[in-house]
Amino acid sequence: MDKKITIAIDGFSSTGKSTLAKQLAKELGYVYVDTGAMYRAIAFFSMQKGYIKTDYLDRESLIKSLSSIRLQFKFNSDLGFAEMYLNGENVEKQIRTIEVSNFVSKVAEIPEVRAKLVEQQQEMGKNKGIVMDGRDIGTVVFPDAELKIYMTASAQTRAQRRYDELIQKGDSVTFEEVLQNVEERDYIDTHRSNSPLIKADDAIEIDNSNLNREEQFELVLDLVKQKS
Ligand code: DC
Repeated sequence: MDKKITIAIDGFSSTGKSTLAKQLAKELGYVYVDTGAMYRAIAFFSMQKGYIKTDYLDRESLIKSLSSIRLQFKFNSDLGFAEMYLNGENVEKQIRTIEVSNFVSKVAEIPEVRAKLVEQQQEMGKNKGIVMDGRDIGTVVFPDAELKIYMTASAQTRAQRRYDELIQKGDSVTFEEVLQNVEERDYIDTHRSNSPLIKADDAIEIDNSNLNREEQFELVLDLVKQKS
């Protein structure tokens, strides 16, 4: 494994992309980038600014203020991964709430938002040695990535994982609410006209409904070894 490569991991929400990506980055000494966190930070910014009211998003105001949004990842050595900063403020906790999850797909549909974030993501990966997860990494951000993984699992399995995570954090949500959110996001993510979630032709699909973390990690690590 003497050659640094680009690893693109795409898939539906709560398929365990970030867990796998973090594990890989740690093992390989690569940089890990959670692109969902960037879309989530923009959704959180929109909420803070009052651009989101119940079900309505003021797209024009958000687009106008995009140039004032600065996103950075800062590595937290205690946690072992990078946290998201929005205009200098650590927003790692705020971007993981169900409120942000409910709005983020609307924000991620906006072409101007995507253009800004894709540019920043390409810059971060220009020296390779990167594991990036999201929805359009293998198709749009790094179409030439040496290794592309497309992760899937049933909506029920994913909602259960997400529900367990939220309950553990002390959020008061119901399983039905989480399942509905997962299904709605799946629909929007796969049906939007701009960069919908689709499997790249050369991506390797992994359905992890019945795979544990270790099995999945070993499987992908073998693929990395073949490519680098
Ligand atoms: O991976 P996640 O669930 O944290 O992503 C949050 C949302 O951001 C998700 O609904 C889809 C969107 N997203 C996207 O459109 N493109 C990406 N590269 C990453 C996330």
